Parts: sequence; C-alpha cells; structure tokens
Amino acid sequence: MAKILAFAGSTREGSFNHAIVNVAAEGAKEAGAQVTVINLADYAMPLFNEDEEAKFGIPERAKALKALMIEHDGFLIASPEYNSSYPALLKNAIDWASRMDEGEKPLAAYRGKVAGIMAASAGGLGGMRVLVVLRMLLENLGVIVAPNQKAIAKVDSLIGENHKLIDEKTITQLKTLGKQTAELATKIAN
Ligand SMILES: Cc1cc2nc3c(=O)[nH]c(=O)nc-3n(C[C@H](O)[C@H](O)[C@H](O)COP(=O)(O)O)c2cc1C
Repeated sequence: MAKILAFAGSTREGSFNHAIVNVAAEGAKEAGAQVTVINLADYAMPLFNEDEEAKFGIPERAKALKALMIEHDGFLIASPEYNSSYPALLKNAIDWASRMDEGEKPLAAYRGKVAGIMAASAGGLGGMRVLVVLRMLLENLGVIVAPNQKAIAKVDSLIGENHKLIDEKTITQLKTLGKQTAELATKIAN
C-alpha cells in the first residue's frame, strides 16, 4: 500500500483544517496505507526569496519537508481559503519544495504523486474556491489530484471538544476521500 503524507495549510492552534486532514488520514490508514501526519509549524521556513536562496541555499526545514514529500507516494492536503485562494504558508512551503537540489530530478516532490484535497471554513462555501486553485497548482507541478474532493461548510458547528470533528456524515466522507487517495496512489506507484 501507498505511503501518504498528510498536512494542513494552517498552523493555527485549533485549526479546522488540521481537524479534517486528521480524519482523512484515518481513512487512508484504515485502507492500509502508511500515513505520516505533519504540522507545517514544525517546518517553519522563510518567505521565499531567490537572492537569499542563492546566498544561503535551501533552508534545512524546507529540505526536510521536500525529503518527506519525495519518500511518500501521495498527499492529503487540507487548505484554508484565504480571499478565495490558498494561504501564503501553504504556497511558500510548496514553492520551497519545488526547488531542486544537486542530483535531484526536477519537481521530484511532485511528479507522479497523487493528492486528495479538502478545505474547511466556518463560511457557507466551505472553502470550495481554494480547491479550484489548489487543484490547478498541484496539477501544474505534476501531481495527479483525485477527482473526489471535500469542502466543509460551517465547520465550526461540526467540531467538538479537543478540536475534533464530531459529525458522523462528514467523518465518513473524509475517510472515503482518504481511502480513495491511498488506493489511487497505490495504483500509480505500482
Ligand atoms: C486573510 C483571511 C482571508 C480569509 N478569506 C476567506 C475566504 O475567502 N473564504 C472563507 O471561507 N474563509 C476565509 N477566511 C476565514 C478562514 O476560512 C478561517 O479563518 C479558517 O478557520 C482558517 O482555517 P484554519 O481553521 O484551518 O486555520 C479568511 C481568513 C483570513 C485570515
């Protein structure tokens, strides 16, 4: 079975997107995938600047994130919607992981990988607009994005104590997305 890396494009304590990506990760695990859930707070990196990259190279934490992405077959990504798009945090991490080190193939963290994407918002659209641009971004990098996706509206009403999702219908939908992403990643990897 595939190796899946799961993360949210938010480092906010109590992030709704962390809550949903954890559930999708459970679904991938239940389908037999080997799943690693990370928090981008542990991979804090400077805002990308080509001059600084030329002077100092790729920061260690960006290299660590890229290495993790390379060693996994697919991703589960939950993104907040900021002004109809992805947050700078997520785009910055994606940009750093697109930079090539010596001996690496171009876009090694992306090409041939699979992604399952989701969003959560307290608003009525659930972040569905960010999924349009996130899908396009990932596909332009060579990632195969699973056809199914999930935007969860009014997510604040679906979260219980400990910032965990409590709505059974949403839990089932997210687990299905995790399972489908793992299955697709397994097919592509073999
Ligand atoms: C700068 C900014 C822009 C936002 N724009 C949108 C938006 O376009 N659509 C939306 O549904 N929510 C928007 N929000 C609200 C976020 O969806 C909300 O803060 C969400 O909880 C962030 O995800 P998280 O809980 O995973 O941190 C915005 C929030 C910020 C800070």
